[in-house]
Amino acid sequence: MAKSILEVKGIKLAFGGVQAIDDCSFHIEEGTITALIGPNGAGKSTMVNVISGTYRPDEGHVILDGKDVTRMPNYVRAQHGLLRTFQISREFANLTVLENLLVVRQGQVGESLFGALFRAKRWQEQTKELVAEANDILNTFGLYRLRNEYAGNLSGGQKRLVELARAVMAKPRLLLLDEPMAGVTPALIERLGHHIVELNRELGVTFVLVEHNLDVVEKICSRVVVMALGKQLADGTLAELRSNQAVIDAYLGGGARERVGS
Ligand SMILES: Nc1ncnc2c1ncn2[C@@H]1O[C@H](COP(=O)(O)OP(=O)(O)OP(=O)(O)O)[C@@H](O)[C@H]1O
Ligand SMILES: [Mg+2]
Repeated sequence: MAKSILEVKGIKLAFGGVQAIDDCSFHIEEGTITALIGPNGAGKSTMVNVISGTYRPDEGHVILDGKDVTRMPNYVRAQHGLLRTFQISREFANLTVLENLLVVRQGQVGESLFGALFRAKRWQEQTKELVAEANDILNTFGLYRLRNEYAGNLSGGQKRLVELARAVMAKPRLLLLDEPMAGVTPALIERLGHHIVELNRELGVTFVLVEHNLDVVEKICSRVVVMALGKQLADGTLAELRSNQAVIDAYLGGGARERVGS
């Protein structure tokens, strides 16, 4: 069996009276693209937040590469290559596309006044290298011509691409995406899917993708983890899950038999 890059074990998290995650465990194999699916309110987004470190669980453990990161803040997890995408917030909308990528690695250059003043040459070199790296990534994503555009002026679809490009700039090993295809055009769904597969193949990035669009799941994900009512209900290939009665019932509960394509 392939090595697990991530394990979640016995996670529980309640918001007031709502048990959003209720003793949920699963693992993610290194080098795979895994879908996390389930009816609305199943706890998928909450789980993404627990894995990335935005939420601390009431109980249970998040294990990255065999190391318990449950108590680590999200930026430390990010330094270990565990990242999630974030929507372009208001501050980022006022930066250009290129600047959106550069700030991801902000800490690396001119981190102090001392550094800026006394190591100016090294600072310039590092900045040049970072700009070159960012431009390469923008090129791959077909965003190079938009590099000096304010991110806030981009279309919804272009923003999704910038979000992914920004995550790539942080050199992820495991990237969590919460409904990256929601509300984008079919052409862009195709393009995002292509980039995810390329990043997986070329750079070996492992993906966990929360996704309602099962055509996308079928096309790009080798394994599917199903959550329902805050628990892991099943896992396997989509083909296997289509004949799994518990999965069909969970979706029927949400009123959508056709969503598992049975
Ligand atoms: N910050 C919060 N405060 C209170 N309740 C929350 C909070 N976040 C999530 N919940 C509740 O926890 C449960 C799980 O929500 P979550 O957003 O994780 O589901 P989901 O599987 O991502 O659903 P969807 O497919 O609709 O995005 C829901 O009942 C939701 O209302
Ligand atoms: Mg959600």
